[in-house]
Amino acid sequence: MQNHEDSIKDLTGYLKKSAEADSGKSAERLRKLVGQEKEPTLPSLFTPIRVGAFNLAHGIVLAPLTRMRSEMPGNVPGPAMVKYYEQRATPGGLLIAEATFVSRQGNGGFGSPGIENDEQAAGWRKVVKAVHAKGATMVLQLWHVGRVSHTSLQRNGEIPVAPSAIDAGLGVLLEGKPGPATPPRALETDEIAGVVEQYRAAARRAKDAGFDGIELHAANGYLIDQFLQDGSNKRIDRYGGSIENRARFLFEVVDAVTKIFPSDRVGVRIGPSNTFNECMTAIRRPYFPTWPRASEIARSPTCT
Ligand SMILES: Cc1cc2nc3c(=O)[nH]c(=O)nc-3n(C[C@H](O)[C@H](O)[C@H](O)COP(=O)(O)O)c2cc1C
Repeated sequence: MQNHEDSIKDLTGYLKKSAEADSGKSAERLRKLVGQEKEPTLPSLFTPIRVGAFNLAHGIVLAPLTRMRSEMPGNVPGPAMVKYYEQRATPGGLLIAEATFVSRQGNGGFGSPGIENDEQAAGWRKVVKAVHAKGATMVLQLWHVGRVSHTSLQRNGEIPVAPSAIDAGLGVLLEGKPGPATPPRALETDEIAGVVEQYRAAARRAKDAGFDGIELHAANGYLIDQFLQDGSNKRIDRYGGSIENRARFLFEVVDAVTKIFPSDRVGVRIGPSNTFNECMTAIRRPYFPTWPRASEIARSPTCT
């Protein structure tokens, strides 16, 4: 089994050879793409690779893809989901399961699965069992959509929550058709610990259901991204304003879920340049220096 250092050396060697072969053009392009001065390291697709705690036979990973195929009512993973994931599992492969709401408050689509209660966890257990039987690793993407929701998706028709009460004119996938998101209300400061707890409890259920790890959905304009980006976060408490304050919610969630899974089984999906769901940051550059801390803490297996 290769350790991380050896993999990096191999990959650097591989990249050097590729760079020589095309006079350095690809490496230069990659360097620009990832914005780093050092040699970027990319694995060859069919080489075994260690990612976090996982020893994978190859680098073909199933990206998290919302399919909205859970059993309704109840948002419980059923036979269609068992079949879907089993079909995509390969020996030594990694699957990142679709965005899965940590609570009804975080639900952003009719038919999206949850991991909020025992019934949903039991549904997921059958999915994971089928995937493990084929020799693959599976992590669950934990999701809270914040303002990308609708009263019809919420428990008791409640108003969706967000860092700030901004109606961004978003669309949501409702029963049978898309529809407009309900304008959100701003979370009170003392409510935020409860939302962090939703993630912790979801991570606990994911572990009990047999998942090998989790990925926090901190991209694509959902709740964590809404906190991170200043277009959606106008708070004046300790969760708003400076980059450190806007990142506080993410780090509290990371701290909470790494009490359940070790950090080499926790990924964080970020999308600093993302504008999906109207999440935007006025000045993007300073948004990046915060990330080394995220990678230190979460040592992401799946950071994209
Ligand atoms: C139908 C669909 C559903 C998706 N659902 C999710 C999701 O649940 N979570 C997530 O992080 N990304 C989701 N994405 C984004 C994908 O994971 C991926 O980043 C995107 O398709 C771009 O991949 P590509 O660059 O390989 O085309 C979804 C994309 C599509 C097309």
